[in-house]
Amino acid sequence: MQADTIKQEIRRLLKERNAVLLAHNYMRDEVQEIADITGDSLGLSQEAAKTAADVIVFCGVHFMAESASILSPQKTVLLPRLDAGCPMADMVTVEGLQELKARHPGVPVVTYVNSSAAVKAVSDICCTSANAVKVVNSLPDREVIFVPDRNLGQFVAKQSDKTFHFWDGYCPTHERLKPDVVARLKEENPDAIFVCHPECNPAVVALADHACSTSGMYDFCRKSPAKRFIIGTEAGILYRLRQENPGKEFILASPALVCPNMKLTSLEDILAALTTMAPVVQVPEEIRIPAKRALDRMIAIPRD
Ligand code: 13P
Ligand code: SF4
Repeated sequence: MQADTIKQEIRRLLKERNAVLLAHNYMRDEVQEIADITGDSLGLSQEAAKTAADVIVFCGVHFMAESASILSPQKTVLLPRLDAGCPMADMVTVEGLQELKARHPGVPVVTYVNSSAAVKAVSDICCTSANAVKVVNSLPDREVIFVPDRNLGQFVAKQSDKTFHFWDGYCPTHERLKPDVVARLKEENPDAIFVCHPECNPAVVALADHACSTSGMYDFCRKSPAKRFIIGTEAGILYRLRQENPGKEFILASPALVCPNMKLTSLEDILAALTTMAPVVQVPEEIRIPAKRALDRMIAIPRD
């Protein structure tokens, strides 16, 4: 089937099923193009919570579909590729987190949304890269346990006077960006602004003019008077950056910034999911209720 025919068929089925198509900012260009809503992890979880649709087709990775299911249990959540996982989310287990908690009794657990529903269920509050500093600083406690991203954790710790207990997790895609590569690019492009995601290694973040979530990057690059930007996050972000800023130039900091999981979902997969109404992601109630508490506490914190 031709791409245009597939897109038409997807749109027809979305209407017929009263479904909404959500896509993360790292999805393939053609998936972002056809989505009803594109966004970062926080934006998409909020959209998932308030949409009136009966069905959510989540073009992202497994933990994102789980979050949609946690927030909207009455809706059917489809994840077109069930094998689209997040290696960082898989780095922390319930057992491992329970051990860390036992070593720091009474210390609240702040869990990055890039985590399984089961891990969220044994956490106090969730955060995304867009609100992590706000979430941590909203807590009255002097210490926090931060899981699973050690890089985001260190980024937040620099903007907080609390004591942090980190988990040693990281995003393999962002970790592939090396500081010497960034330093060389900056030297070759002295007029360019370097913007990166806080999932990058702290040595890379230290070289950044600005570090923020994916949606934060759209805002920053749109408002900035600069004309050239070096981008330190997953390649999928370039699609909208270039579309929204035709007079500006965006240089991907490294060709290694491609998340294989985020690239799995194709138009054919979306069509198949809508046709068969599978694969469904549904979080069991005994995990959903405590996980929702941690997500709700995060969502209650107003976005800037
Ligand atoms: P954000 O879009 O929330 O910045 O998330 C980045 C990411 O790596 C998602 O997997
Ligand atoms: Fe996970 Fe990194 Fe891929 Fe995001 S970009 S889904 S954090 S591996």
